[in-house]
Amino acid sequence: MIIRNTMKAKPFVKWAGGKTQLLDKLLLYAPVSFENYYEAFVGGGAFFLKLSSMNKIKKLVINDSNLELTAAYRAIKETPRALIEELGSGKYVNDEETFYKIRRLKPTNDIEAAARFIYLNRTAFNGLYRVNSAGEFNTPFGHYKNPTILDEQNLLAVHEALQKDEIYFVEFEQAVSNAAKNDFIYFDPPYQPISKTSSFTKYTQKDFNENDQRRLAECFKRLDKKGCFVMLSNSDSPLIRELYSQYNIHIVKASRRINANGFGRGEINEVIVTNYGVFKWGK
Ligand SMILES: C[S@@+](CC[C@H](N)C(=O)[O-])C[C@H]1O[C@@H](n2cnc3c(N)ncnc32)[C@H](O)[C@@H]1O
Repeated sequence: MIIRNTMKAKPFVKWAGGKTQLLDKLLLYAPVSFENYYEAFVGGGAFFLKLSSMNKIKKLVINDSNLELTAAYRAIKETPRALIEELGSGKYVNDEETFYKIRRLKPTNDIEAAARFIYLNRTAFNGLYRVNSAGEFNTPFGHYKNPTILDEQNLLAVHEALQKDEIYFVEFEQAVSNAAKNDFIYFDPPYQPISKTSSFTKYTQKDFNENDQRRLAECFKRLDKKGCFVMLSNSDSPLIRELYSQYNIHIVKASRRINANGFGRGEINEVIVTNYGVFKWGK
C-alpha cells in the first residue's frame, strides 16, 4: 500500500559525504529534463529526494553497496507502518546501555534490521557507519542530548518518493547497466583522498581505491557514449582531474565534517564533472 504524504522528504540517515549542502550546485549543473534517473552510490539520497520533490523523476534506480542501508530503503518503501511501529515501540532509547545492547543485536527480520540501522545512525558518534573486519558495526555511542530516532512524517515522505523506484545492492557498473540515451546518471562515490589522512572512503568493509576510481571513469565514458547525461561529484585531486580531463569540470566549495577519524571541519574545493554544458532551470 502506498501512503501519501505531501511533506518534502529529506535523508532519513546522517551520511558521511551527504550532499544536502551542495543541492543548489548540483541542481545548477543537472540537465533540465531527462528520462530515467540513476544514482549508483545513493547514501542518504539528498539529491534524488530533492529531484523527487520537484517532480523531476519519472523512474528511479538507486543503489548502494551498503547492505544495511539498502535494506532500510526497502523497508521504508514496502513496510513503512511496521517500521514506524517498531521504532516507536519503546525499545529504541537513547542511553548508553541500550545503545550497546542494540549494537550487539543480530536482527531476525527486515523491520528490526531497518529500525536498528536507523537507531544506530541517530545515536552513534557523528552518525558514522563503521564496521570491523568481521563486518560488525563498531562506532561508539554519540552522547547526543535529544536525537530524533523516529521521524514518522519524514519516513512517510521518503516512502512516497520511493514509489517510482528500483533499489539495488550491487556494484555501481551493474546498477547503471540498463541506462539508455537521455537518462540522467549521478555518481557520488567515496572521494579520492586529497591526503593520506584526510578522507573517509570506508562505508563498508571494502575501501574504494584508485582502481575503483579508474573503473568508475571507464563506466562514465561508456554512459557518455550511449548518450546519457552523466554527472559526478568528487574531490579536487590530481587523479580526478586526469581521469575526467575531456569533460566539464566545475569547482565548488564545500564544508566537510567527517574525515578519517570523525573530527575536523573545513571548507575545501570539490568538483562536479558533467559530460554536457550548463543548463538553465525553468526554461
Ligand atoms: C559519498 S557517499 C554518497 C553520499 C550521498 N550522495 C548522500 O547524499 O548521502 C558514497 C556511497 O557509495 C557507497 N559505495 C561504496 N563503494 C561502492 C561500490 N563499489 N558500489 C556501489 N556503492 C558503493 C557507500 O556505501 C556510500 O553510501
